[in-house]
Amino acid sequence: MIDKERLLSNLLTSSAQHRVEVFDIVDSTNTIAKGLLSQGAGHGTLVVAEAQTHGRGRLGRAWHSPKGGLYFSLVLLPSSEVVSLPLYGLMVACVIREVIHKKSGLECMLKWPNDLLVSNRKVCGILSELVTDDERIKGLVVGAGINVNTLPNMFPEEIRSHATSLRIETGKEHNLEEFLAAIVVALESWLVECPSLSNVVSVYRTHCLTLGKQVVARIHGTELVGIAFDIERDGSLLIRDDAGRTHRVNSGEVTHLRGCD
Ligand code: BTN
Repeated sequence: MIDKERLLSNLLTSSAQHRVEVFDIVDSTNTIAKGLLSQGAGHGTLVVAEAQTHGRGRLGRAWHSPKGGLYFSLVLLPSSEVVSLPLYGLMVACVIREVIHKKSGLECMLKWPNDLLVSNRKVCGILSELVTDDERIKGLVVGAGINVNTLPNMFPEEIRSHATSLRIETGKEHNLEEFLAAIVVALESWLVECPSLSNVVSVYRTHCLTLGKQVVARIHGTELVGIAFDIERDGSLLIRDDAGRTHRVNSGEVTHLRGCD
Protein backbone atom coordinates (compact mmCIF):
# COMPACT_ATOMS: atom_id res chain seq x y z
CA MET A 1 0.00 0.00 0.00
CA ILE A 2 1.41 3.42 -0.95
CA ASP A 3 0.99 5.59 2.13
CA LYS A 4 0.26 9.25 1.36
CA GLU A 5 1.51 10.52 4.74
CA ARG A 6 4.78 8.61 4.36
CA LEU A 7 5.17 9.98 0.85
CA LEU A 8 4.55 13.53 2.05
CA SER A 9 6.96 13.15 4.96
CA ASN A 10 9.62 12.04 2.47
CA LEU A 11 8.87 15.16 0.46
CA LEU A 12 9.68 17.45 3.37
CA THR A 13 12.98 18.48 1.79
CA SER A 14 10.99 19.68 -1.20
CA SER A 15 10.43 23.41 -1.56
CA ALA A 16 7.24 23.17 -3.58
CA GLN A 17 3.77 22.48 -2.28
CA HIS A 18 2.57 19.52 -4.26
CA ARG A 19 -0.99 18.45 -4.67
CA VAL A 20 -0.65 14.70 -4.27
CA GLU A 21 -3.38 12.21 -5.17
CA VAL A 22 -2.71 8.61 -4.11
CA PHE A 23 -4.90 5.73 -5.30
CA ASP A 24 -4.92 1.96 -4.75
CA ILE A 25 -6.01 1.26 -8.28
CA VAL A 26 -6.99 3.48 -11.23
CA ASP A 27 -7.37 3.01 -14.96
CA SER A 28 -4.38 5.23 -15.76
CA THR A 29 -2.61 7.88 -13.70
CA ASN A 30 -1.93 9.81 -16.94
CA THR A 31 -5.65 9.92 -17.70
CA ILE A 32 -6.42 11.20 -14.20
CA ALA A 33 -3.62 13.78 -14.31
CA LYS A 34 -4.81 15.02 -17.71
CA GLY A 35 -8.30 15.46 -16.29
CA LEU A 36 -6.94 17.39 -13.31
CA LEU A 37 -4.85 19.59 -15.60
CA SER A 38 -7.91 20.37 -17.73
CA GLN A 39 -9.67 21.43 -14.53
CA GLY A 40 -6.84 23.80 -13.64
CA ALA A 41 -4.48 21.68 -11.52
CA GLY A 42 -1.18 23.40 -10.88
CA HIS A 43 2.44 22.70 -11.77
CA GLY A 44 3.79 19.74 -9.83
CA THR A 45 0.44 18.00 -9.20
CA LEU A 46 1.27 14.36 -8.66
CA VAL A 47 -1.01 11.35 -9.23
CA VAL A 48 0.23 8.00 -7.91
CA ALA A 49 -1.34 4.54 -7.97
CA GLU A 50 -0.38 1.12 -6.71
CA ALA A 51 -1.80 -0.55 -9.79
CA GLN A 52 -3.50 0.42 -13.05
CA THR A 53 -6.19 -1.43 -14.97
CA HIS A 54 -5.55 0.38 -18.27
CA GLY A 55 -1.99 1.68 -18.01
CA ARG A 56 -1.02 3.27 -21.30
CA GLY A 57 2.33 3.08 -23.03
CA ARG A 58 3.83 4.87 -26.03
CA LEU A 59 2.53 4.26 -29.55
CA GLY A 60 -0.88 3.13 -28.29
CA ARG A 61 0.47 0.15 -26.39
CA ALA A 62 -0.74 -1.09 -23.02
CA TRP A 63 1.45 -0.80 -19.93
CA HIS A 64 0.94 -3.80 -17.68
CA SER A 65 0.72 -2.37 -14.16
CA PRO A 66 0.53 -4.95 -11.35
CA LYS A 67 1.10 -4.11 -7.68
CA GLY A 68 4.79 -3.88 -6.85
CA GLY A 69 5.54 -1.31 -9.54
CA LEU A 70 5.51 2.46 -9.18
CA TYR A 71 3.06 4.30 -11.43
CA PHE A 72 2.84 8.05 -11.33
CA SER A 73 2.07 11.09 -13.44
CA LEU A 74 3.20 14.62 -12.95
CA VAL A 75 1.48 17.76 -14.22
CA LEU A 76 3.98 20.24 -15.66
CA LEU A 77 3.20 23.71 -16.89
CA PRO A 78 6.06 24.28 -19.33
CA SER A 79 8.36 27.20 -18.82
CA SER A 80 8.18 29.61 -21.75
CA GLU A 81 11.96 29.17 -22.09
CA VAL A 82 11.57 25.56 -23.19
CA VAL A 83 11.40 25.36 -26.95
CA SER A 84 10.93 21.61 -27.32
CA LEU A 85 8.41 19.72 -25.20
CA PRO A 86 10.05 16.28 -25.73
CA LEU A 87 12.90 17.62 -23.58
CA TYR A 88 10.66 17.11 -20.53
CA GLY A 89 10.44 13.37 -21.26
CA LEU A 90 14.23 13.18 -21.67
CA MET A 91 14.72 15.13 -18.44
CA VAL A 92 12.41 12.82 -16.47
CA ALA A 93 14.27 9.82 -17.93
CA CYS A 94 17.61 11.30 -16.78
CA VAL A 95 16.26 11.97 -13.28
CA ILE A 96 14.76 8.49 -12.83
CA ARG A 97 17.96 6.92 -14.16
CA GLU A 98 19.98 8.76 -11.57
CA VAL A 99 17.63 7.85 -8.70
CA ILE A 100 17.66 4.18 -9.74
CA HIS A 101 21.45 4.25 -9.76
CA LYS A 102 21.70 5.99 -6.37
CA LYS A 103 19.11 3.85 -4.63
CA SER A 104 20.01 0.45 -6.07
CA GLY A 105 23.61 0.80 -7.26
CA LEU A 106 22.50 -0.60 -10.62
CA GLU A 107 23.88 0.67 -13.90
CA CYS A 108 20.86 1.97 -15.75
CA MET A 109 20.99 3.16 -19.37
CA LEU A 110 18.65 5.16 -21.59
CA LYS A 111 17.23 3.89 -24.85
CA TRP A 112 16.02 6.76 -27.00
CA PRO A 113 13.70 8.39 -26.33
CA ASN A 114 12.36 7.38 -22.93
CA ASP A 115 13.11 3.78 -22.01
CA LEU A 116 15.32 2.89 -19.06
CA LEU A 117 17.21 -0.39 -19.27
CA VAL A 118 19.04 -2.44 -16.67
CA SER A 119 21.00 -5.46 -17.94
CA ASN A 120 19.57 -4.60 -21.36
CA ARG A 121 16.02 -5.17 -20.12
CA LYS A 122 13.34 -2.54 -19.69
CA VAL A 123 12.85 -1.34 -16.13
CA CYS A 124 10.94 1.90 -16.77
CA GLY A 125 8.91 3.57 -19.50
CA ILE A 126 7.73 7.16 -19.78
CA LEU A 127 4.68 8.56 -21.56
CA SER A 128 4.44 12.34 -22.10
CA GLU A 129 1.12 13.78 -23.21
CA LEU A 130 0.09 17.32 -24.08
CA VAL A 131 -3.13 18.84 -22.85
CA THR A 132 -4.48 21.57 -25.12
CA ASP A 133 -7.39 23.94 -24.96
CA ASP A 134 -8.52 25.59 -28.23
CA GLU A 135 -5.15 24.73 -29.80
CA ARG A 136 -3.34 26.41 -26.90
CA ILE A 137 -1.01 24.25 -24.82
CA LYS A 138 -2.38 24.09 -21.28
CA GLY A 139 0.33 21.84 -19.98
CA LEU A 140 1.98 18.51 -20.08
CA VAL A 141 1.53 15.25 -18.22
CA VAL A 142 4.60 13.07 -17.85
CA GLY A 143 3.83 9.58 -16.58
CA ALA A 144 6.33 6.92 -15.57
CA GLY A 145 5.98 3.24 -14.83
CA ILE A 146 8.91 1.76 -12.94
CA ASN A 147 9.25 -1.95 -12.28
CA VAL A 148 10.44 -1.60 -8.71
CA ASN A 149 9.35 -4.67 -6.70
CA THR A 150 7.80 -6.58 -9.61
CA LEU A 151 8.52 -10.33 -9.65
CA PRO A 152 9.14 -12.29 -12.88
CA ASN A 153 5.79 -14.09 -12.82
CA MET A 154 3.97 -10.74 -12.62
CA PHE A 155 5.08 -9.84 -16.16
CA PRO A 156 2.95 -11.18 -19.01
CA GLU A 157 4.68 -14.03 -20.86
CA GLU A 158 5.25 -11.93 -24.00
CA ILE A 159 7.40 -9.32 -22.23
CA ARG A 160 9.08 -11.54 -19.61
CA SER A 161 12.30 -11.98 -21.60
CA HIS A 162 12.86 -8.25 -22.11
CA ALA A 163 11.53 -6.75 -18.88
CA THR A 164 13.16 -6.63 -15.48
CA SER A 165 12.66 -4.97 -12.10
CA LEU A 166 14.91 -3.51 -9.44
CA ARG A 167 13.92 -6.38 -7.15
CA ILE A 168 14.88 -8.99 -9.75
CA GLU A 169 18.22 -7.27 -10.34
CA THR A 170 19.15 -6.62 -6.69
CA GLY A 171 17.23 -9.31 -4.80
CA LYS A 172 15.92 -6.55 -2.52
CA GLU A 173 12.58 -4.83 -2.03
CA HIS A 174 12.56 -1.06 -2.29
CA ASN A 175 10.36 1.42 -0.45
CA LEU A 176 8.02 2.97 -3.02
CA GLU A 177 7.35 6.20 -1.10
CA GLU A 178 11.06 6.92 -0.59
CA PHE A 179 11.74 6.12 -4.21
CA LEU A 180 9.04 8.43 -5.54
CA ALA A 181 9.96 11.25 -3.15
CA ALA A 182 13.60 11.05 -4.32
CA ILE A 183 12.42 11.37 -7.93
CA VAL A 184 10.15 14.35 -7.20
CA VAL A 185 12.84 16.18 -5.23
CA ALA A 186 15.41 15.58 -8.00
CA LEU A 187 12.94 16.75 -10.65
CA GLU A 188 12.29 19.91 -8.73
CA SER A 189 15.92 20.76 -8.29
CA TRP A 190 16.47 20.21 -12.01
CA LEU A 191 13.58 22.52 -12.90
CA VAL A 192 14.75 25.17 -10.44
CA GLU A 193 18.42 25.05 -11.43
CA CYS A 194 17.85 24.88 -15.18
CA PRO A 195 14.24 25.73 -16.12
CA SER A 196 15.19 26.09 -19.79
CA LEU A 197 16.26 22.40 -19.82
CA SER A 198 19.25 23.49 -21.91
CA ASN A 199 21.50 20.97 -20.14
CA VAL A 200 19.24 17.93 -20.59
CA VAL A 201 20.64 16.68 -23.88
CA SER A 202 24.26 16.71 -22.74
CA VAL A 203 23.39 14.68 -19.61
CA TYR A 204 21.13 12.38 -21.63
CA ARG A 205 23.90 11.67 -24.18
CA THR A 206 26.30 10.38 -21.53
CA HIS A 207 23.89 7.60 -20.51
CA CYS A 208 22.32 6.85 -23.88
CA LEU A 209 22.72 3.29 -25.11
CA THR A 210 21.26 4.10 -28.53
CA LEU A 211 24.16 6.29 -29.67
CA GLY A 212 26.66 4.45 -31.84
CA LYS A 213 24.23 1.56 -32.40
CA GLN A 214 22.80 0.35 -35.65
CA VAL A 215 19.07 0.97 -35.37
CA VAL A 216 15.86 0.64 -37.27
CA ALA A 217 13.45 3.53 -36.88
CA ARG A 218 9.79 2.96 -37.78
CA ILE A 219 8.13 6.23 -38.64
CA HIS A 220 4.60 6.39 -40.04
CA GLY A 221 4.86 2.94 -41.63
CA THR A 222 8.32 3.37 -43.16
CA GLU A 223 11.56 1.83 -41.93
CA LEU A 224 14.87 3.58 -41.76
CA VAL A 225 18.07 1.64 -40.99
CA GLY A 226 21.29 3.37 -39.99
CA ILE A 227 23.64 4.35 -37.21
CA ALA A 228 22.25 6.59 -34.47
CA PHE A 229 25.05 9.09 -34.01
CA ASP A 230 23.77 12.08 -32.04
CA ILE A 231 20.89 13.79 -30.27
CA GLU A 232 19.94 17.32 -31.25
CA ARG A 233 19.22 20.20 -28.88
CA ASP A 234 15.47 19.59 -29.22
CA GLY A 235 15.88 15.90 -28.31
CA SER A 236 15.59 14.44 -31.85
CA LEU A 237 17.74 11.45 -32.76
CA LEU A 238 20.11 11.77 -35.71
CA ILE A 239 20.56 8.65 -37.83
CA ARG A 240 23.01 8.22 -40.71
CA ASP A 241 21.89 5.70 -43.34
CA ASP A 242 24.17 3.50 -45.50
CA ALA A 243 24.23 6.15 -48.23
CA GLY A 244 25.61 8.69 -45.74
CA ARG A 245 22.39 10.71 -45.53
CA THR A 246 21.38 12.14 -42.16
CA HIS A 247 17.81 11.73 -40.89
CA ARG A 248 16.26 13.53 -37.97
CA VAL A 249 13.82 11.39 -35.99
CA ASN A 250 11.58 12.94 -33.38
CA SER A 251 8.94 10.28 -32.83
CA GLY A 252 8.10 6.66 -33.54
CA GLU A 253 9.89 3.54 -32.48
CA VAL A 254 13.59 2.84 -32.59
CA THR A 255 14.95 -0.69 -32.23
CA HIS A 256 18.60 -1.48 -31.59
CA LEU A 257 19.78 -3.99 -34.17
CA ARG A 258 22.90 -5.18 -32.39
CA GLY A 259 22.64 -5.84 -28.67
CA CYS A 260 19.30 -5.73 -26.99
CA ASP A 261 16.62 -3.08 -26.96
C1 BTN B 1 6.19 3.12 -22.56
O1 BTN B 1 7.32 2.69 -22.35
O2 BTN B 1 5.52 2.72 -23.53
C2 BTN B 1 5.61 4.16 -21.63
C3 BTN B 1 4.96 3.55 -20.43
C4 BTN B 1 4.40 4.60 -19.49
C5 BTN B 1 3.61 3.98 -18.35
C6 BTN B 1 3.23 4.96 -17.30
S1 BTN B 1 2.62 4.17 -15.84
C7 BTN B 1 2.08 5.69 -15.21
C8 BTN B 1 1.51 6.46 -16.36
N1 BTN B 1 0.12 6.12 -16.57
C9 BTN B 1 -0.07 5.51 -17.73
O3 BTN B 1 -1.18 5.10 -18.15
N2 BTN B 1 1.07 5.41 -18.40
C10 BTN B 1 2.16 5.99 -17.67
